[in-house]
Amino acid sequence: MRILLIGSGGREHALAWKISQSSLVNKLFIAPGNGGTALCGENVPIKESELTALVKFAIDQKVDLVVPGPELPLVLGICDLMEKAGIPCFGPSQYAAQLEGSKIFAKEVMRDAGVPTADFEIFEDAAKAKAYIQAKGLPLVIKADGLAAGKGVVVARTESEALRAVEQMLEQKIFGDAGNRIVIEEALIGEEASFMAFCAGEEVLPLPSAQDHKPAFDNDTGPNTGGMGAYSPAPVLPDAEIPKVIDLVMRPVLKVMAERGHPFKGILYAGLMMTAAGPKVLEFNTRFGDPECQPLLMRLDADLVPIMLSCAKGSLKGLELPLSELTALCVVAAAKGYPGDYPKGMEISGISEAEALAAPGRVKVFQAGTKAQNGKSVSSGGRILGITALAAGLEEAKALAYQAVAKIRMENMHFRTDIGDKGIKRLKAG
Ligand code: AMP
Ligand code: GLY
Repeated sequence: MRILLIGSGGREHALAWKISQSSLVNKLFIAPGNGGTALCGENVPIKESELTALVKFAIDQKVDLVVPGPELPLVLGICDLMEKAGIPCFGPSQYAAQLEGSKIFAKEVMRDAGVPTADFEIFEDAAKAKAYIQAKGLPLVIKADGLAAGKGVVVARTESEALRAVEQMLEQKIFGDAGNRIVIEEALIGEEASFMAFCAGEEVLPLPSAQDHKPAFDNDTGPNTGGMGAYSPAPVLPDAEIPKVIDLVMRPVLKVMAERGHPFKGILYAGLMMTAAGPKVLEFNTRFGDPECQPLLMRLDADLVPIMLSCAKGSLKGLELPLSELTALCVVAAAKGYPGDYPKGMEISGISEAEALAAPGRVKVFQAGTKAQNGKSVSSGGRILGITALAAGLEEAKALAYQAVAKIRMENMHFRTDIGDKGIKRLKAG
């Protein structure tokens, strides 16, 4: 098979690494890829937003399966275009990708489906939004409707923060058209979990739970990032609870999508808040989480390619997801300053020493913002590496991952030192 993977992050290196292990695959292209994906296949200089060029490339290269990693091409309609050209594409249609691309669409589907989520109101008029905030009281969460590169959500604890978010989104248009409408919702209290499943129509094949760490600094402080680390399984959502979440969240949403004539296929990712009143959905994504994908794929003891191909064709019948019993934990090494301004071009070394720390397959350094330059690996983005370890339990996986982090040499490197701690605390509390 010939596969085209789209994207350039740590998730895409993990996908490329897994796909390249498949005996079914004889050619893997990654557009545009990074320094890590170049080790698994051939990078192609086409950006994830260049849909016409991606389709032309896939046709010319006789690609058998397209795997979009990030949300942007999905929301722009890559699957519809590829399928029109007769090429299976692992992801939802443009209509179904609105579950991620429009917070308002997702809220309306959840309301139709009876899925638990924060109470909300929709606004396009700033004066009305401000009056609502003043009447309602804080805390409140203000969300731009459209894609805003992970920056479109403000958890406001004070009235001035909330009013400023409304002004920035609806008046100053800092997110452009993505902020033409906003959602203002109740702030939920609890611990977050990431739950992903392969979905096709109304069939569901769940992955185990994971937990992301969005804030930049230890103890969940500092600005929100795309994710500073993740692990799987997450004790906050044990395996035994997953069937309940499928019935509560996944099946009702898939049913509504099918009833609307737009059955969902691909990965449905529910960002959950585990509240005292049970799980509530914070958001949907329509792709693998990054960095959750890295530990999840470390645990997957199966060939991913036939699963994605069958899912792309609309069926999960007869498929299984054998998983390692071990725990996987990923620490993101970022550039100092990320998610704000940060330096680039730092030389990276120590990856092979890190991977040699344990038996093969136990430590893997996934690359995100990296590129090869004069035979060396240098940083080219804010999130640079995802140092991932697989071990017998969460504490062991954390210890091994941080031993591996200590082998990496790079100037201006920033990482959190507490990835996994919420889970360890929960396990200790029994
Ligand atoms: P989202 O992109 O909707 O997942 O929001 C990004 C982050 O904002 C989430 O991971 C949560 O940490 C936080 N968040 C979003 N919605 C809420 C909410 N209703 N209550 C509390 N925190 C929220
Ligand atoms: N890790 C969160 C996300 O992928 O959206």
